[in-house]
Amino acid sequence: MRKKRILSGMRPTGKLHIGHYVGALENWIKLQQNYESFHLIADYHVLTTKLDTKEIYQDSIDMLIDWLACGLDPVHSPMFRQSQIKEHAELNLIFSMLISVNRLERNPTLKDQIRDLNIENVIYGHLGYPVLQAADILLYKGEVVPVGEDQVPHVEISREIARRFNSNYGEVFPEPEPLLTKFARLSGLDGNAKMSKSLNNTILLSDDAETVKSKLRKAVTDPQKIRKGDPGNPDICLVFSYHRKFNPSKVEEIDKNCRSGALGCVDCKLNCASKISTFLEPIIVKRKYYENRIGEVTDILHDGESKAKRAAKSTMEEVHAKMMLG
Ligand code: TRP
Repeated sequence: MRKKRILSGMRPTGKLHIGHYVGALENWIKLQQNYESFHLIADYHVLTTKLDTKEIYQDSIDMLIDWLACGLDPVHSPMFRQSQIKEHAELNLIFSMLISVNRLERNPTLKDQIRDLNIENVIYGHLGYPVLQAADILLYKGEVVPVGEDQVPHVEISREIARRFNSNYGEVFPEPEPLLTKFARLSGLDGNAKMSKSLNNTILLSDDAETVKSKLRKAVTDPQKIRKGDPGNPDICLVFSYHRKFNPSKVEEIDKNCRSGALGCVDCKLNCASKISTFLEPIIVKRKYYENRIGEVTDILHDGESKAKRAAKSTMEEVHAKMMLG
């Protein structure tokens, strides 16, 4: 049986954090065995919120190294930059004719971003963000798109565009489906619901044991539990939520000892830091391997880009034929 095709992507914002792993990467790695996967570095999408391009290349390489260090397979799953495949721009243009401004203005993810980032004047490209994303997905005939919840409206727009194209010009595109990541997103070290570089509340996949320890020392816990002996409430404790993910076999015991007061926050945090570092250790080793062999990393990228290019070209030939262009 033919494997279904996955198209997944992330905006390159530099080194990844454990929230990226839990929210997306872990899933991508699992899925790559049962699907044919394409992994996109969305370096054009970054421009919607950051016009300065000085760091985009290095951020893309850093993200790629994290992908590889976590176990994405460069032999079977091409990894490539959006900006290097011109067909994204071309399909974006065609798709921009197939959706109304009104529909794009209703996109809840855009509304959230405008609010969170205090954006006063929305640029045309930001409104069109999901149109470019539809081009990303459909250029590779992506059928399954593993994403977090905030991206579901964008996949829905991709479906609408695919239907519109197919009914106007003839069947070319599948209707992609979102595949939600099971584990909810990890909260940031400051207790914010989102772990994010711009909020400066992350644990990076590349953080060494000392760094993880010192970051965790400052993490927020139950504010009512001031010293060892005070009973705590793990349900509202950030550190406990990390234990759930990185120390699952000890969760019951920690829950009990936190509530009784027998376990103090200092020990609990040290223990959590050590579990996170145990998890990160092999990733850091692999990351070092690639950092010392940048030539290998760029070869992987260029190889991914030539595979992506081939797939993109073949889709665009079909598009041109159906549209009777050329
Ligand atoms: N918008 C996605 C995000 O911010 C990144 C992205 C760009 C993407 N193109 C994509 C995700 C195509 C999936 C498929 O997370």
